[in-house]
Amino acid sequence: MASILRSPQALQLTLALIKPDAVAHPLILEAVHQQILSNKFLIIRMRELLWRKEDCQRFYREHEGRFFYQRLVEFMASGPIRAYILAHKDAIQLWRTLMGPTRVFRARYVAPDSIRGSFGLTDTRNTTHGSDSVVSASREIAAFFPDFSEQRWYEEEEPQLRCGPVCYSPEGGVHYVAGTGGLGPA
Ligand code: RTP
Ligand code: MG
Repeated sequence: MASILRSPQALQLTLALIKPDAVAHPLILEAVHQQILSNKFLIIRMRELLWRKEDCQRFYREHEGRFFYQRLVEFMASGPIRAYILAHKDAIQLWRTLMGPTRVFRARYVAPDSIRGSFGLTDTRNTTHGSDSVVSASREIAAFFPDFSEQRWYEEEEPQLRCGPVCYSPEGGVHYVAGTGGLGPA
């Protein structure tokens, strides 16, 4: 969004999803969550949800017509998913690097310690999703967190989160500006 003024040091936001194959396995779900924390992402929002097939079709419309599209859409609607808004200096690229290559066979070979290399089952059941650009991140964040205002977050929360101190709520699974009790603006 061109209207948002950001300092060159600003945190970047990305949308991360944990797909149904991983949400179904509590240990894998927890391991991915720990990877997010150990790589110093700030978890801005987190929610679990079941997606309808139409939501998946809309989300993956750029892939409509590809051979894997139908399989992907049905899989993503097959069980609960977890969605995160993550913040980091270079959140989009960092999360994609942590996920590893799309195709699991390749991930196991070239990035065995990546999330997909460690936990991916097939090219469809490949554990996680990550936005691929600033534009897609904004679109995808709005799709999963319609009440979240990126503009307001950049104006009000980002400078405080960047300069700290920041707390983490293990119950809520999110970070927040110290002193706000985790009840900052939605
Ligand atoms: P993602 O969107 O899930 O973060 O992953 P990506 O950018 O690396 O992959 P993308 O090309 O956007 O594809 C979205 C999802 O479609 C499935 N896919 N299967 N060759 C295949 O069988 C194939 N290609 C893509 C994957 O589940 C991928 O995550
Ligand atoms: Mg993609």
